[in-house]
Amino acid sequence: MDYKQLIIDSINIEGVDKSELLALVAIPKDSAMGDLCIPCFKLAKEMKKSPMAIADEIAKSVTKSEMIEEVTSVAGFVNFKFNKIAFAKQTLQDVLAKGEDYGKSNEGNGKTVCIDYSSVNIAKPFHMGHLLNTALGGAIYRIYTALGYNVVGINHLGDWGTQFGKLIVAFKRWGSKQEVEKRGVRALVDIYVRFHKEEESDPNLGDEARAWFKAIEDGNAEALELFEYFKGVTLKEVDRIYKRLHVKFDSYAGESFYNDKMQPVLDELTAKGLLQESDGAKVVKFEDENMAPCLLQRSDGATLYATRDMAAAFYRKNTYDFYKCLYVVAYQQNLHFQQVFKVLDMMGCEWSKDMVHVAHGMVSLENGAMSTREGNVVFLEDVLNTVVEKALRVIEEKNPHLADKEKIAEQIGVGATLFGVLYNSRIKDMVFSIDKVLNFEGETGPYVQYTYARCNSLFDKCGEIGSEIDYKGLDNEVSKAIVALLDRYPQILQESAKKYEPSVVTRYAIDLAQAFNKFYFECKIGTEAEEIKNSRLLLTKAVRQVLGNALGLLGIETPQKM
Ligand code: ARG
Repeated sequence: MDYKQLIIDSINIEGVDKSELLALVAIPKDSAMGDLCIPCFKLAKEMKKSPMAIADEIAKSVTKSEMIEEVTSVAGFVNFKFNKIAFAKQTLQDVLAKGEDYGKSNEGNGKTVCIDYSSVNIAKPFHMGHLLNTALGGAIYRIYTALGYNVVGINHLGDWGTQFGKLIVAFKRWGSKQEVEKRGVRALVDIYVRFHKEEESDPNLGDEARAWFKAIEDGNAEALELFEYFKGVTLKEVDRIYKRLHVKFDSYAGESFYNDKMQPVLDELTAKGLLQESDGAKVVKFEDENMAPCLLQRSDGATLYATRDMAAAFYRKNTYDFYKCLYVVAYQQNLHFQQVFKVLDMMGCEWSKDMVHVAHGMVSLENGAMSTREGNVVFLEDVLNTVVEKALRVIEEKNPHLADKEKIAEQIGVGATLFGVLYNSRIKDMVFSIDKVLNFEGETGPYVQYTYARCNSLFDKCGEIGSEIDYKGLDNEVSKAIVALLDRYPQILQESAKKYEPSVVTRYAIDLAQAFNKFYFECKIGTEAEEIKNSRLLLTKAVRQVLGNALGLLGIETPQKM
């Protein structure tokens, strides 16, 4: 229900543009003042009256209705208070009629949004650092889908570079398929590390690696076979994690995909007079001298990360004709994306304004929290397993007879992990603490999941909702606070999409769960008269629906019992 429009329609004065008024509508800082308000300060100049006089005039003109119970003019604000019963009835009906679709909209109207996220590197560990990235990308993917956009998830694989020459040398000397079969990427990482150690005393290794990399470039069959093998091993492992985190990709076009698509970009840059020689290399220089030149070709002719991103940008524009192209990548790469976007702009691509670097901070672990360490790298899969194991121990302790314990521990552990990294603004660095994200009483995923399960347990206890409903059962402030939150959910989605900020959704889920728990402890449910009980169960059902919808957007499952 569009309550903003509703209050605007209730106003009957001349000489004010209603769309102007609509834009001013806000939520009062102090909820005791009302549910919505219109601050009149901006109107003073145009109307040549004081904000107080304008607010008085507007307030007097309002036609009250079943919904609009009270209108006051206070210090330049017009405050509107809704009737608790009408507000609850209208909102709950809306939530329950839409169900899983509540919060969704068609604002995207099928426009395409590309999201480049997770973008793992072949034969490198999928470590803790990728967690926030993957969680963010997955959430943004689902949020934009819910708003009616056509979303294309792209995993821009790091599958090119001289390191693959090194890896082939290392694999041929010290590696074996059996070992890789057994230990996956860990086996590849080990021999790669060994290569660097041995190279110190055996400089020939470097030459050999360069030769093998050239062999890949030249399409040598053995080199390509090994290269594809490493890729397959990595993707198999990463896929296992993607399934657990509930993320998916529509394209795995990685860096190597652009091998034959860079020359046309370099040619166009040359034709436009933008590519300059610098010590034999080719660069684009910027007017702003504080910005380092963008290196696009090395003196030996080799292309770079930025060259591939240039080619990828054109490919994506031509293939998907995107409305927006997002890059979910850590802030370390701020300069890289500024350079790439700027070069596109200098080439006259007006669509470079549609490219957004959705930058995020770093995630580190508390010292000593993790036992499995490979050098400094902590494999994400180990972290997930540890969180899930701990979740299982909590269940064993609190609810040992719960059915499907393993499955629920996975849902809680993965949910806690996702919720934990998505709780802060994305740009902040964070220290990931397993105990904190798993705290059932904190601002955590398990707390929200537990609240969801609590709603279920009420239905187990009270049975289904009968047809006699008296909304007087919701005529209290605690219920009204919940209704107001439920009503706000669609705007929460819009806001989080606009800011590329899933934390808007995680924070909302906590607010709603806390409001419901307050209701649960303060308002009797099962022992009330049938019609009153039914109204409270209806509220419970709507809360359960919206908590489930919100968690779903974050990639978090909802155990029915906990
Ligand atoms: N593979 C890169 C890394 O791990 C991230 C790639 C991000 N996407 C892009 N189009 N540059 O740093």
